[in-house]
Amino acid sequence: MAYPRIPGHEVIGVIRALGDEVAGWKIGDRVGVGWNGGHGIDPEVIGLVLEGGYAEYMVAYANGMAQIPAGISSEEAAPLVCAGVTTFGALKNSAARFGDVVAVQGIGGLGHLAIQYAHHAGFYTMAVSRGQDKKALSLELGAHRYIDADSEDASALLKELGGARVILATASNGKAIADLFDGLGPVGEMVVVAGTGEPMPIAPTQLLNGRRRLRAWTAGQAKDSEDTIQFSIRAGVHPMIETFSLEEAPKAFERMMSSKVRFRAVLTM
Ligand SMILES: NC(=O)c1ccc[n+]([C@@H]2O[C@H](COP(=O)([O-])OP(=O)(O)OC[C@H]3O[C@@H](n4cnc5c(N)ncnc54)[C@H](OP(=O)(O)O)[C@@H]3O)[C@@H](O)[C@H]2O)c1
Repeated sequence: MAYPRIPGHEVIGVIRALGDEVAGWKIGDRVGVGWNGGHGIDPEVIGLVLEGGYAEYMVAYANGMAQIPAGISSEEAAPLVCAGVTTFGALKNSAARFGDVVAVQGIGGLGHLAIQYAHHAGFYTMAVSRGQDKKALSLELGAHRYIDADSEDASALLKELGGARVILATASNGKAIADLFDGLGPVGEMVVVAGTGEPMPIAPTQLLNGRRRLRAWTAGQAKDSEDTIQFSIRAGVHPMIETFSLEEAPKAFERMMSSKVRFRAVLTM
């Protein structure tokens, strides 16, 4: 990675110019670019190895762009091309089926969308957070039950329901994820999307008991973002956002880094 680098990888914009060999897009199309800057492009991560979206203009690979349909604002579409597509894809490709118990751990940018997707997928949705702050909101977003991991034994509560078929771990803490593992039921699946580098202490016997699984999910490609946005519009899934002007980027960044933002800071141009 080389610096300076323009950050930002949940980007919505309008095409102003096209490369000579680009087909299938036209000037004026509204598009979104997420974490993956394009299929088969290496390196491909927007805002880390490619310039990102804290800018009025950016260059994007054509096959990294998702078409943004009418019926959603650019501000609401932006979080869906990473936070949205990650949680939508993680749940859609999980072992959970209609009626299963699914727990969403960590109610932040990803978690608050995951609750909504889980609810609309017909899962019996449990929200696992810390403290009481996010209880009312989690229930409003569609969680059937709320677990305060600070004062309740979250694994035991999940076990009382027969164990979760899927736990979607968005909490950026390895120990917190491991602590919840025993809340899985037989052949239950812990799907980790949290990007922490901390160890996650899970014993082999915890996997053997009930043949439980541990797996991960990462964002997705442009087509996955299109599917996510389409579903979100149809189902009425909305990201909670706070908007800031480009000039206010440092303030937005500070609110994001101190976990004060509910739940995505979106820069508008
Ligand atoms: N796999 C992928 O492709 C992908 C895509 C996007 C993001 N990510 C990763 O997913 C994670 C979540 O992203 P986000 O945007 O949702 O972040 P976020 O808005 O900061 O939310 C993370 C949530 O994790 C919980 N948490 C944080 N520290 C914790 C701790 N010490 N112990 C227990 N819980 C803790 C908090 O939820 P509560 O307060 O409710 O407990 C917090 O709201 C990040 O690690 C991010 O890098 C991965």
